[in-house]
Amino acid sequence: MSYQISDLLARRRTGYALERPFYTDPEIFRVDMETLFYRDWLFAIPACELTKPGSYVTHQVGSYGVVIVRGADGVIRAFHNSCRHRGSVICNKAKGVSPKLVCPYHQWTYDLDGKLLWARDMGPDFDPSQHGLKPVHCRDLEGLIYICLADEAPDFEAFASLAQPYLAVHDLRDAKVAHETSIIEDGNWKLVWENNRECYHCGGNHPGLCRSYTDDPTVTGIEEGETPAHLQAHFERLEAQGYPSQFRMAEDMQYRLARMPLLPGAKSFTMDLKPAVTPFLGRVKDDTAGTLLKYHYPTTWNHFLPDHSIVFSVTPLTATTTRVTTKWLVHKDAVEGVDYDIQRLTEVWIATNDEDRQVVEDNQRGINSPVYQPGPYSPIHETGVMGFVDWYCNTMSRRLATTRMAAE
Ligand code: FES
Ligand SMILES: [Fe+2]
Repeated sequence: MSYQISDLLARRRTGYALERPFYTDPEIFRVDMETLFYRDWLFAIPACELTKPGSYVTHQVGSYGVVIVRGADGVIRAFHNSCRHRGSVICNKAKGVSPKLVCPYHQWTYDLDGKLLWARDMGPDFDPSQHGLKPVHCRDLEGLIYICLADEAPDFEAFASLAQPYLAVHDLRDAKVAHETSIIEDGNWKLVWENNRECYHCGGNHPGLCRSYTDDPTVTGIEEGETPAHLQAHFERLEAQGYPSQFRMAEDMQYRLARMPLLPGAKSFTMDLKPAVTPFLGRVKDDTAGTLLKYHYPTTWNHFLPDHSIVFSVTPLTATTTRVTTKWLVHKDAVEGVDYDIQRLTEVWIATNDEDRQVVEDNQRGINSPVYQPGPYSPIHETGVMGFVDWYCNTMSRRLATTRMAAE
């Protein structure tokens, strides 16, 4: 590499897009993974996906395979999906139900809490208690499962205590996954996020979404402490009914919560603007509540509506490919074909995701050209993008400096 990442970070021009290597270089991608994705709390799955003891899903983050499983005691735990014998993957499928976790290679058998229960002919000196599955930090935040791959996880409490009351009223533990999609975007993961953090592109690209969702920058990009009067009135009206709504953002901008209005007359993200599901998921009974917006870098943005919720997750695959997974959550008692129609429920965001994939891929291809030069973000519409890029650069700079100091 003819440059150092720290030099590129140091010479970054605030308010401008990043230089080309941040979006194209496999070495910077590797450092992104090691510095952010292998160290931060990551949204993995909605807890409701693990419906009973023994339900598990496997989850890949870069080189790390993780299995997330509901124990006999109902508690959800996460483990590295690598056998303590000779390292085989233990769970091969994307999801399943199993009373024990059995390695396919030599059948070492682990309990759902990771304990090694059985290993054939390992001799008298073998100590099973020293060969349990390696745990991965795992937290259940009101029905959203977050994991952290680091040996020592960063603080989760500040985020969890802020988000908990906002999420609690949505009763996500009473949900089921009505539908899920996974798409691969041919773009760097930061372009996926930059696109997500602004609605400057919405009018020109999202005809379906724009029926219900405003591209008003005071809704899509306001900063804490500068709430316009019409939004403050919306927050106060909903908080008076017991639905936390105020705009709150982390000091370093890693996460944000706010319950924002949809366009007048819109109750949900549907083409006819009416709710997509009855019964509603959660206790927000006011169908003019709009959408609780939540993001948490680097893996998730979400919409929590009165009738249903949508959780998105971002998984970088290579320097120029990213998986975006979307799950639509509805009340577990809602019956498909009776209480909701999958197409009505999902069509706006399936189209929006595909439109976003297109603009992200176009953005990536344009950046791939040697003529690319970082341009300025709009101070009106792209404050959210600036916030993301600032978070990225500040977090990377801080952690790389700490790593360097530790190495010296
Ligand atoms: S590698 Fe798992 S039992 Fe041998
Ligand atoms: Fe978009």
